[in-house]
Amino acid sequence: QELQMNLEQIEKGGYEHFMLKEIHEQPKAITDTYRGRLLRNEAIIKMAGVEDNMKRFLNANRIIIVACGTSWHAGLVAEYIFEDLARIPVEVEYASEFRYRNPVIGENDVVIAISQSGETADTLAAIKLAKSKGAFVFGVCNVVGSSIAREADAGAYTHAGPEIGVASTKAFTTQITVLTLMALRLARAKGTISSSDFRQHLLELELIPKKVEEALESDAHIKMIADIYKNSRNCLYLGRGFNFPVALEGALKLKEISYIHAEGYPAAEMKHGPIALIDENMPIVVIATKKGHYEKVVSNIQEIKSRKGKIIGIVTEGDTQVRDLADHVIEVPDTLESLSPLLTTIPLQLLSYHIAVLLGKNVDQPRNLAKSVTVE
Ligand code: G6P
Repeated sequence: QELQMNLEQIEKGGYEHFMLKEIHEQPKAITDTYRGRLLRNEAIIKMAGVEDNMKRFLNANRIIIVACGTSWHAGLVAEYIFEDLARIPVEVEYASEFRYRNPVIGENDVVIAISQSGETADTLAAIKLAKSKGAFVFGVCNVVGSSIAREADAGAYTHAGPEIGVASTKAFTTQITVLTLMALRLARAKGTISSSDFRQHLLELELIPKKVEEALESDAHIKMIADIYKNSRNCLYLGRGFNFPVALEGALKLKEISYIHAEGYPAAEMKHGPIALIDENMPIVVIATKKGHYEKVVSNIQEIKSRKGKIIGIVTEGDTQVRDLADHVIEVPDTLESLSPLLTTIPLQLLSYHIAVLLGKNVDQPRNLAKSVTVE
């Protein structure tokens, strides 16, 4: 018994929970993900799984991404990135809906399955269906040799290392990293990105681990905010563009481990319903980084404020406009808009982590949830 306790403590590397350890591992995990693939000096991206199947990608009518849970959110971020950079139409599907819908799919479709465990039953069934219809299936998995990795025609591993906490953290950011590399590689092949833009993306992506480290420095400040809102019954998360899926993921993290009801919305949808919920008891996390419809998000924040909602703004370092309006701000370093989800996600992970710990919840093994769902 005692030996086992010690072993677990060693595995946690000095952190109180696996989730916190994994949150802090993200700078290294992202670096491991792009190592050997992002070659900035040569200004190339090397991914064997993409290279060997370049024709299938370039001839694709569209890309269909299938996944569940947090991986599905990574797929949504990828939709924005692939369409923006590589100009390939993307659809993102819950694997469970896709497989039972009699989907229209054929030989000119590329299906990307995203799965940390590589064992999720619905995702596995979705790619078997896609393969049987002649689609080309590409897997983005973390666990090497997993069922989805084996079933796929080709793939790219995330190299995040083992993720133990049930609430996914480093798997999410490394999935986004792999998908960004893919989008950039395809954009280069298609000529939808200029060489200077391409180089700038490589440079900025290479800087992300350092910037994630900086974002992690807000930990104590976030814990203080967590303490103020830990007894809330509900919470809203708003974001636009590349950061809309981050709002969904932030809300999911809070639900999963603190059991507080949370919803993510595209900020502009607020007026079509959720605004009715806003009063002085509603905390609202708004992702309001400088790039990407900043002014529009600021006007959303003004609307929340006039209804007395409590605003926690995720802002770019040095921001003053949101700071003047919000109850709290959490800063993240500046980066390209398309890469910003890799940074804005970090404070949301920490916020849900601290709320759950302050409430005395079992962070690493939340009730009713499993790390990988291998049955329907
Ligand atoms: C479970 C886990 C989630 C995960 C989802 C998909 O619900 O609790 O954290 O996002 O499965 O898992 P996968 O391994 O396919 O990414």
